[in-house]
Amino acid sequence: MSEQQSQQPNIHANGASGNRHRTGSNGNSEQHSAGSTGPAGAFSPRFAQIVGWGYHVPEKVITNFDLEQIVDTKDEWIRSRTGIEERHVAAAPSETSATLGILAGRAALEMADVTPSKVDLIICATSSPEHIFPSTASIIQDGLGASNAGAFDLSAACSGFVYGLSMARGHILAGDAEYVLVIGAETLSRIVDWTDRTTCVLFGDGSGAVLVAASDVPGGITATVLGSDGSGADLLTVPAGGSAMPASLETVSSGGHYIKMDGTAVFRFATRVMAEATRQVLGKAGLSVDDVDLVIPHQANVRIIQNSVFKQLKIPEDKVFINLQKYGNTSTASIPIALCEAIEAGKIKPGDNLVFVGFGAGLTWAACAIKWSVPIAKPEETWWRNTQRQAAYQAAAARSMWKRAIRRVYSQFPAKSRWGERKEESEAG
Ligand code: COA
Repeated sequence: MSEQQSQQPNIHANGASGNRHRTGSNGNSEQHSAGSTGPAGAFSPRFAQIVGWGYHVPEKVITNFDLEQIVDTKDEWIRSRTGIEERHVAAAPSETSATLGILAGRAALEMADVTPSKVDLIICATSSPEHIFPSTASIIQDGLGASNAGAFDLSAACSGFVYGLSMARGHILAGDAEYVLVIGAETLSRIVDWTDRTTCVLFGDGSGAVLVAASDVPGGITATVLGSDGSGADLLTVPAGGSAMPASLETVSSGGHYIKMDGTAVFRFATRVMAEATRQVLGKAGLSVDDVDLVIPHQANVRIIQNSVFKQLKIPEDKVFINLQKYGNTSTASIPIALCEAIEAGKIKPGDNLVFVGFGAGLTWAACAIKWSVPIAKPEETWWRNTQRQAAYQAAAARSMWKRAIRRVYSQFPAKSRWGERKEESEAG
């Protein structure tokens, strides 16, 4: 039995699938929890804990020096104005928001040692979905073989991952789900204008995921704050390709399907809301700024973090995790990627108070307070476990291909024989 398994004793049946995750016992916040009354009439509190996490970034790296060859820019300008040094880019056609999301989702499930079939809901926050519809989340659901999960995309731009955590917490506290997979997945390089130096230097591709589980251990996601100000919708937008400005030869030739941004206005907005949202969420969680052990802010620009988290909130640098120098702004993926790297760097331990805070197009902002209550231990990797997992991935792919094949065969039959008498009746009537 792995270390993590051994620390997750007696799951007690009380939810939709009767499979609640029992985690470590370092949390002490009993507020903001929901629960249910058991057969004996005893109230059983319910908490939403992050029990698995993972991320994936494409292999191809574009440095600031590479960008100097593409647009009129300088490494020094990008570094001093943003803090970014390089970013990962989905160069292969097979690297899409869904395939990156699947890899992050698998990593989160592996970390939690939970099989895809146990997931009740998949929320994919993305600013670069595969299509207007179907949702990228549904494609991820199929790829993961999460055959019992509902799936939807969440559009709140770079705030989307924290919005997703809020939705996951709500579903879990309401008793509607035991396991919710929240994914941030982006291939922004596909919607960036590589001739526009004001935007192309900022963004990168990648994905991050967390598995949120129902738990009876106090803590987890204890409070969330969500905000929106649509009067700033035009400050950061992809103008064309939606119903307001459908794709046409003209929208394509004028570059309307690329990201457009008023950087200065977004900068001003971001520095204000990052500090405000952090204060609000701490208030809701009954904590002060001094109680915070680690802030994981949206990784857009180091100067936004300095002006808001360091200067306005006076949170010291060693309590703020920053990795944007390696990835640029990966939108919805930035916070979960940073979370994974903060864990890898030993910056998070059970009992810590964390704040995730983000902002983005919309305009939107979001923050959540987390009492980290799970052990930071990867399940022991054995040959057998790995083989089982690979077999499950193959089975998911085979199941998907089989369903598609059946539909193709079925579509070969003439409509009359498919609908039979019903069609004849409707034609007659
Ligand atoms: N290389 C060189 N020069 C550049 C450049 C680049 N990549 N991008 C813009 N410039 C130029 C502009 O053309 C402008 O030149 P001008 O003054 O001759 O017109 C000048 O730099 C602008 O400089 P400045 O106003 O000092 O830039 P800034 O300090 O505001 O930084 C941003 C610009 C975009 C980095 C900054 O505004 C920002 O980060 N905004 C927030 C963006 C963001 O986070 N978006 C995502 C939200 S989720």
